[in-house]
Amino acid sequence: MHEELLARLPLFQNLEPSSRQALDAHVQPLSLSRGEVLFHAGDEALGLYVLATGKVKLTKPSRQPQPTVAITRKGRPTIPTPRESLLSLIGPGEMFGELSVLDGGNRSTTATAMLDCRLYHIPREPMLQLIHEHHDISSAMMHQMAHRVRVSNEIISGLVLSDVPGRMAYLLLTLGERFGVPTERGTEVHHDLTQAELAQMVGASRETVNKVLTDFAGRKWITMSGKSVVIRDEARLRARID
Ligand code: CMP
Repeated sequence: MHEELLARLPLFQNLEPSSRQALDAHVQPLSLSRGEVLFHAGDEALGLYVLATGKVKLTKPSRQPQPTVAITRKGRPTIPTPRESLLSLIGPGEMFGELSVLDGGNRSTTATAMLDCRLYHIPREPMLQLIHEHHDISSAMMHQMAHRVRVSNEIISGLVLSDVPGRMAYLLLTLGERFGVPTERGTEVHHDLTQAELAQMVGASRETVNKVLTDFAGRKWITMSGKSVVIRDEARLRARID
C-alpha cells in the first residue's frame, strides 16, 4: 500500500522489492502538527520512525538543575527557558528511534515536529524481525547510523577544539549540505531554527550566536533572514572552522 512512497525515501531506495513488501506490511502512517512532541527522552520505545515530509528536532534535557524564576527590577518574573541541547535535525527520508528498538532501552532524546510532518512508524517487534530477515534493511540502517557517528564525532571535536564562530561556521555548512538549495545568491538554507535553537546546537548563548551571525553577515559570508540563511562565501566559512 505504501510501497511506492517507501521506495522514494532515501533510506529505503535501494531495497529489494521483497524487503519493501515486507516493510509495507508493517508501516503505520501518522502525521504531526508543528510543535507537537512525538516522544520524550526517557519514554518507553514503541518503534522506529521514518520521516517522509517535514522536519523533526531531537533534543536532550540538561542534567543541570533548571534555573529558578527570577524577579526583574520592575517586579516581573522572568520565565526561565528550559535548558536543553539540540542534538540533531531529522529531514525527509531519515529514520530515528532506532536506538531503543535495537537495545531495548528508553528513548535517548525528545522528538518534536518543527514543521507539519508525515511519518511512518514501524512497531518494535516486526522491525526487529525485518532486521533479522532482510540484510538490505539492516545494512541501510547501519549505513545511516555510521554516518551519524561521523557527524557526532565532528560536533564533539568542534566543541572541544573550536571557538563559537568556528562551531557556527561548521553548523551552517552542515545545514547547507543537508537542507541547502543552490541559488544565484548562494546556497539558500531554510533551517527553520530560531537563534535560541542555533545556540543549543553550538553550545553557546543566544546573545553570542547573534553576535557571531551579525559578524558573518557584516563580512558578507552569509545573509540572514528569519529562519533561513544564504551562504554566500562557503570558502571563508570553511576556513573559519579551523
Ligand atoms: P531512540 O533513543 O530510540 O530515540 C531518540 C532517537 O534520536 C534515537 O533513538 C536516535 O534515532 C536519535 N538520536 C539520538 N542521538 C542522536 C544524534 N547524536 N544524532 C542523530 N540522531 C540521534
